[in-house]
Amino acid sequence: MFQEKASANCLNILPTSIEDGAFQKKGHSARVLSPEEVEKLAKDQVLVSEFKQLKLEKEAQKNWDLFYKRNSTNFFKDRHWTTREFQELKACREFADQKLTILEAGCGVGNCLFPLLEEDKNIFAYACDFSPRAVDYVKKNALYSVERCKVFQCDLTKDDLLDNIPADSVDVVTLIFVLSAIHPDKMHLVLRNIYKVLKPGKCVLFRDYGLYDHAMLRFKSGSKLGENFYVRQDGTRSYFFTEEFLSQLFKAEGYEQVVNEYVQRETVNRKEDLRVPRVFLQSKFQKPFRET
Ligand SMILES: C[S@@+](CC[C@H](N)C(=O)[O-])C[C@H]1O[C@@H](n2cnc3c(N)ncnc32)[C@H](O)[C@@H]1O
Repeated sequence: MFQEKASANCLNILPTSIEDGAFQKKGHSARVLSPEEVEKLAKDQVLVSEFKQLKLEKEAQKNWDLFYKRNSTNFFKDRHWTTREFQELKACREFADQKLTILEAGCGVGNCLFPLLEEDKNIFAYACDFSPRAVDYVKKNALYSVERCKVFQCDLTKDDLLDNIPADSVDVVTLIFVLSAIHPDKMHLVLRNIYKVLKPGKCVLFRDYGLYDHAMLRFKSGSKLGENFYVRQDGTRSYFFTEEFLSQLFKAEGYEQVVNEYVQRETVNRKEDLRVPRVFLQSKFQKPFRET
């Protein structure tokens, strides 16, 4: 279950009392909004000033680092669903205990990385993040070992991954709730960077916020940066993906689409009798065997 702890209008927050509902569907149709939700989004047209937007871009790293200073390792829940949801990690082996090299791009404090390393003893993981503090937390984790992982600080939009990872050497790249934190104009740079280290024929596994996720509808006016793009109170930003946008983004960088679909879940807060519609985009894009 995807659920994070936090205060209102900080990251993507569900109060811990919300229980997981039975409902989940996958498919290509975007979530249908209620008339009230349509009206709310239609009213929210004023964008944050260009000056403030430039400042947010300049201070993106600082804002993520402060995020980890405030929350240390306690914010995101461990993402144990990764192997369940992404059967690819198992499926891409040619034989049962084949060693896989993965890259966890934008690893944060390792909520996805460590469950993976624990669940699968035949993985070597590269992991990187923008925030030096997050990288330090990963290094300090009792499960961190240089035999099984290499973590480093990097801005995926600027710093060449080849400085730390050999070309064409990675079997699986996971990109989990990371691209949404990056300005849409720079997302292609991340995909270009990752392409260089991925083995031909291997995949990027992507999961992130989908269009009309509950978190998107909760932003107050004055938080909108652009189409489907918002800023939280702590200065970190969040983009909400459509299938089409993501598909074009990956294809323009030479990837082939394998899977690209919305996952819609409805969680229920029984106490308040509230239904909470979550929408994620879950996708898989492959680097072709031969470049065209
Ligand atoms: C929502 S968190 C997700 C962390 C982790 N993937 C997880 O699932 O728990 C987004 C992460 O993206 C990182 N990030 C944002 N912009 C980045 C960039 N340009 N390069 C590398 N990491 C970045 C942030 O520091 C943050 O740790």
